[in-house]
Amino acid sequence: MITRDLSIAREQLQRGQVIGLPTETVYGLAGNAFDPQAVQQIYAIKQRPAANPLIVHVGSIEQVEDLVTEFPEPLRKLAEHFWPGPLTLLLKKSDRIPDVVTAGSDRVAIRIPDHPLTLELLNQLNFPLVAPSANPYTRISPTRAEEVEEYFGDQVAVILQGGACQKGLESTIVGFDNDNPVIYRLGSLSIEALEAVAGKLHIHDQKNHTTLTPGMARKHYSPQTPLTLVENIDAFLKTHPEERTGIFLTGEENPEEIAPIFYARLKHLDRSGYDRLIARYFPEKGLGRTLNDRLRRAGE
Ligand code: TXA
Ligand code: MG
Repeated sequence: MITRDLSIAREQLQRGQVIGLPTETVYGLAGNAFDPQAVQQIYAIKQRPAANPLIVHVGSIEQVEDLVTEFPEPLRKLAEHFWPGPLTLLLKKSDRIPDVVTAGSDRVAIRIPDHPLTLELLNQLNFPLVAPSANPYTRISPTRAEEVEEYFGDQVAVILQGGACQKGLESTIVGFDNDNPVIYRLGSLSIEALEAVAGKLHIHDQKNHTTLTPGMARKHYSPQTPLTLVENIDAFLKTHPEERTGIFLTGEENPEEIAPIFYARLKHLDRSGYDRLIARYFPEKGLGRTLNDRLRRAGE
């Protein structure tokens, strides 16, 4: 059931139920972060491997202090600048965070989402919310309440209607290694925007650390139709005349304009009966980098 009624969402969460909720990035599947059973339920509904930790959502920076044992100054500066917003920070967790939330890691991922309804909800609750993106494992992330309903139907108590997500791509994840902020997942917040505040940032090298951010699994955000990344769209169409080919992106669009509709467009084409979807990478800058990352993971 989709509702605009915050009190229904709040009551369900207080009873340990899982709900769908809007953020500015994508919709999430939310539950009480202090309730291991609710957290467990989210892994089960999402069919997510237990080794893949969840992001904790809070309504204010003050609420973070209780959940972590350290808040390094450079990350605090980023938080103060970008929260509420599409920035997730990896911080040393306190005992308040159940191990099931972090899949046993000593670090917890935390953010303040920038959506008025969800912020109000978070500030009415006396516990934080875990919320992974509201899609079954490896599938395309939802940016509208109706998509969450299609994916999960009655498996969630209720879905809070918050309209289409403004950003449309997941948050950018930043951790702290050897006294420096490090980007773990590209997202809605561009590297350029982060670097304007934090100075030069490193990007975490996944090849050497396959286990640290397991949600960065190569296959992710995937359509059911094969998606092929091509250099030259016309050449591909000419050499594959027998295939019904859907052009997803030419790489010439404006990344800022595509980001909010990227997943919706991919999902729409996925359902249009094509044999294959094709796309071309964007120039590696701004949100183009994030779109390329998602294309790489969605592709074959
Ligand atoms: O924009 C977003 O971040 C959305 C909205 C709902 O807030 N959430 C989201 O959650 O994208 P999810 O679960 O789909 O992706 C979270 C990513 C995963 O790659 C996970 O492995 C990583 O964050 N992650 C979560 N906790 C972590 C931790 N303690 N250490 C390392 N990585 C972590
Ligand atoms: Mg996800």
